Amino acid sequence: MTRHFLDLTDAGTAGIQAMLDDAIARKQARAGWPKGKVDADAPLAGRVLAMVFEKNSTRTRVSFDMAIRQLGGTSIVMDAGSMQLGRGESIADTARILSGYVDAIMIRTDDHQKVVDMAKYASVPVINGLTDASHPCQIMADMETILEAGFALPGLRVAWLGDGNNVLASIMEAGGLMGFDVVAACPQGYQPSDADVARGKGRARVVGTPREAAEGADIIVTDSWISMGRAHAETKLAAMMPFQVTEALMASAKPGAKFLHCLPAHRGEEVVDAVIDGPQSLIWQEAENRLHAQKAVLRWCFGQI
Ligand code: CP
Ligand code: NVA
Repeated sequence: MTRHFLDLTDAGTAGIQAMLDDAIARKQARAGWPKGKVDADAPLAGRVLAMVFEKNSTRTRVSFDMAIRQLGGTSIVMDAGSMQLGRGESIADTARILSGYVDAIMIRTDDHQKVVDMAKYASVPVINGLTDASHPCQIMADMETILEAGFALPGLRVAWLGDGNNVLASIMEAGGLMGFDVVAACPQGYQPSDADVARGKGRARVVGTPREAAEGADIIVTDSWISMGRAHAETKLAAMMPFQVTEALMASAKPGAKFLHCLPAHRGEEVVDAVIDGPQSLIWQEAENRLHAQKAVLRWCFGQI
């Protein structure tokens, strides 16, 4: 059976744990090496990953490209607008065509149904590189970062501040699978759907105030208030302002709490400089871990984990 990574549930608790262990071990094994040097065992030698972007990307694009290179494979990176996809060729036809050329496909798209359709019609693994509904690769990197910081996932308390978006949906799903609590504080009108909260299998909930979410938290997370493809509305920014991650908010979390942000950040909106650039912030490690975590995702898709 072809393995697709459309959401964290596709890998399940054991699969995620195995990928996290692999990501951390492989990262340690090549510490200090030049970035372009292939891992000693070159586990994906001869494999080609095609990437399709319908939306902008810096981290996902470069980290997947470097991930497949470090595993011994190569990549083809395409913007959907320069493909026939951008002129209306269907996802189903694109999936069949790409499957004849490459060994795996990663797609970033506006509509989650497109990754589902890509997986349905592709005969090679398909990876979700972000949709309007979820961002599972990001949360793999976040969990790796949390583990490297010395926390255990079971029993952890993660607080989310701001927009009830795709990244939050995947964090809630991760909480349900890995046994940690996710407490989200989001303004009225921007809260996660009941279906997204249900991904947390009873471990995710929405509270009324930022302080309620932050108190007792081990990890504080936020994201851009306006996701790609969403309208830039002053009314939304105004509603979000009380949910900004400030030093005072960090101080209401547990001592030793850490700050995560998937990036790109809008300093002065969802987070102040003093927090994102401060001692509790793990954002650079988190961003680097996209590379290491996605190497594990790729290996999992090929049945090596
Ligand atoms: N966090 C993340 O997915 O970043 P990019 O949009 O730059 O890929
Ligand atoms: N929620 C953001 C994440 C960007 C990596 C977006 O969808 O634009």
